[in-house]
Amino acid sequence: MKTILVTGATGQIGVELTQALLERYGGDKVIATDYNNQPHNGWPQTSHFFRLDVRDATTLNEIVENYQCDTIFHLASLLSAVAETKPLEAWDININGLLNVLEVARTHRCSVFFPSSVGAFGPEAPSFDTPQDSLQRPKTLYGITKVSGELLCDYYYHRFGVDTRGLRYPGLISNKALPGGGTTDYAVDIFYAAVKNRHYDCFLRADTQLDMMYMPDAIAAAIKLMAADRASLRHRNAFNVTAMSITPEQLADEIQNHLPDFTMTYTVDPLRQAIADSWPRHMNDSAARNEWGWLPQYDLAAMVKDMLIQIATRENGLNRGCYAAG
Ligand code: SER
Repeated sequence: MKTILVTGATGQIGVELTQALLERYGGDKVIATDYNNQPHNGWPQTSHFFRLDVRDATTLNEIVENYQCDTIFHLASLLSAVAETKPLEAWDININGLLNVLEVARTHRCSVFFPSSVGAFGPEAPSFDTPQDSLQRPKTLYGITKVSGELLCDYYYHRFGVDTRGLRYPGLISNKALPGGGTTDYAVDIFYAAVKNRHYDCFLRADTQLDMMYMPDAIAAAIKLMAADRASLRHRNAFNVTAMSITPEQLADEIQNHLPDFTMTYTVDPLRQAIADSWPRHMNDSAARNEWGWLPQYDLAAMVKDMLIQIATRENGLNRGCYAAG
C-alpha cells in the first residue's frame, strides 16, 4: 500500500481504521474522507482530510488522482436499521457510492476493501455454523446492498482485474466512535449506560444470539486481509469473520461480573428485532482462518473488561455518525 484513501472515515470503523493506518503508514500516506465536515479529533493534526459524499464521482476521482491513491478502504454506508427507514437513500449511498469507488479503482488500478456484513444472509441460510458459501436471500435493504456489493466486487475482480477484498463483519463493539443506526448497536450502547447509569433498557430480546467482534480485531482483520498474498485468497470478497456469538443476556451477565449493581430491562423494538431474527446466530469463519490466518484476540470476557476500562476514561469527544459503516 502506497497511499490509502478511506471513505466514511469518521464512522464507527473508520475512526479506528484511519488511526491504525496513520500509525502504520504515516500521515502523508492516508487520505481520510467523510460526508461529515470535520476530521476525528483523535487523529494527528497533520493527517489529510476531505469532505466527500461517495455519490460524487468527480470529487472522488480528483482526490484519487491528486494523491495517487493505490488502495481504498470504502466504509461509507448506511447501517441496517436506518436503511429500513430510508431504503432509496440507502440504495443510492451503498450501491452508487460503491460503484463510484469501483470505477475509480478500475481507472487508477487501486485495490479496494469493502465491508460486507452478517446482514448479507437471510433466514433461508443455516442459522448456526453458517457456511462461507451459503444461500443469501436477505430481507433487509441493507442486506440486499451488501450482497449486491459482494457481487459487484467479484465482478470488478473477474472482469477488470481490480484487486477487491472484503469481510462479512458481525456486530462491531467499539468505544471511539458510536455506530449509527445498526441492529447490533445495543452491544455498544449498553456499556455507556452501564458506566453512567448502571442500567440499560435493551431493544432486542434477551435471547437474541448474534455474532460480535471487538473493534481492534475488526481493524486488524481488514489490514491483514489487504496485506495477504493474493494467491492464497480463494474467497477474496466477503469472508465470514466472527469473534464471539452472544445474547444480550450473556453480555449483561459479563458486565455484572465487573459492575454487580448493573441491571437490564427489555423494551423490544419490532423493526430491529425482526432484522436480528433474520440474521445468522453464528457464522462459520474457517475460510478466513485457512486462507489468510484470521484469528481474533478478544473473546467476550476480554472485550468487556477492556470496554469498561476505556469507556470509564474516554466519555468525551464521541461522535454519533449516521453515515459510516459498521
Ligand atoms: N452492525 C451492522 C448493523 O447492525 C451489521 O453489519 O447494521
